[in-house]
Amino acid sequence: MYNGKKIILGLMIFVLLVTSPVLANIGKENEPPEIDLDTPAISQLEQRQCVESPEYMLANHMRMLNEWRDKALREGKTVYISDSGKEYEMSLENGCLQCHSNQEQFCDSCHTYTEVEPYCWDCHNGSKGADLEK
Ligand code: HEC
Ligand code: HEC
Ligand code: HEC
Repeated sequence: MYNGKKIILGLMIFVLLVTSPVLANIGKENEPPEIDLDTPAISQLEQRQCVESPEYMLANHMRMLNEWRDKALREGKTVYISDSGKEYEMSLENGCLQCHSNQEQFCDSCHTYTEVEPYCWDCHNGSKGADLEK
């Protein structure tokens, strides 16, 4: 006969030993980045809001930016009118990054976390300056 209790205890210890380093790491790797919304420009806004709702921005900012680029470059349109009727300049440097001037803590940290690498910064200087390396 075998000792069921001892086997179960042994199994539990085994599982714990094998998984604990993994568990310890899972926590760290999945820690979401600090999304820092506090910039001088944002703190001066009368209404603390983005171009569209934060939910919409989270889900659609990549599509919005593509649209902005196409409108600005192909059609020469530079003004975006939001759902609420507000006007924004359709620009990375003079739009998004005027408010989100902390590109590293905001855009970049989230992209690193989600493993997205926008190629925009190959040409756009981002919050490092408004000049494009043409
Ligand atoms: C190969 C270089 C290059 C890449 C890569 C690039 N752009 Fe641009 N982009 C330009 C140039 C040049 C202009 C025109 C700037 C001007 O007219 O002053 C421009 C203009 C724009 C504009 C309108 C004007 C402005 O000041 O922002 C938007 C919006 C834009 N790009 C978004 C993007 C986005 C989003 C990406 C990445 C998905 C991207 N671009 C990638 C070169 C590039
Ligand atoms: C007029 C200033 C302003 C401009 C311009 C602006 N934002 Fe925002 N953005 C904000 C504010 C303020 C919030 C927080 C809104 C809230 O909490 O309701 C925000 C929130 C966001 C969020 C959601 C973050 C989260 O975790 O909830 C994303 C993503 C975002 N912005 C991306 C962009 C992009 C991309 C652009 C350019 C296409 C842009 N923003 C232009 C001010 C701005
Ligand atoms: C809270 C997280 C988060 C923040 C903050 C954020 N992004 Fe993103 N971004 C994403 C995710 C996730 C994707 C990929 C979405 C997809 O592929 O559908 C993405 C994709 C993009 C893309 C398209 C890249 C590609 O290769 O398709 C651009 C351009 C972009 N983001 C620009 C910005 C800019 C500019 C800011 C700051 C003003 C910003 N993002 C802030 C999460 C974020």
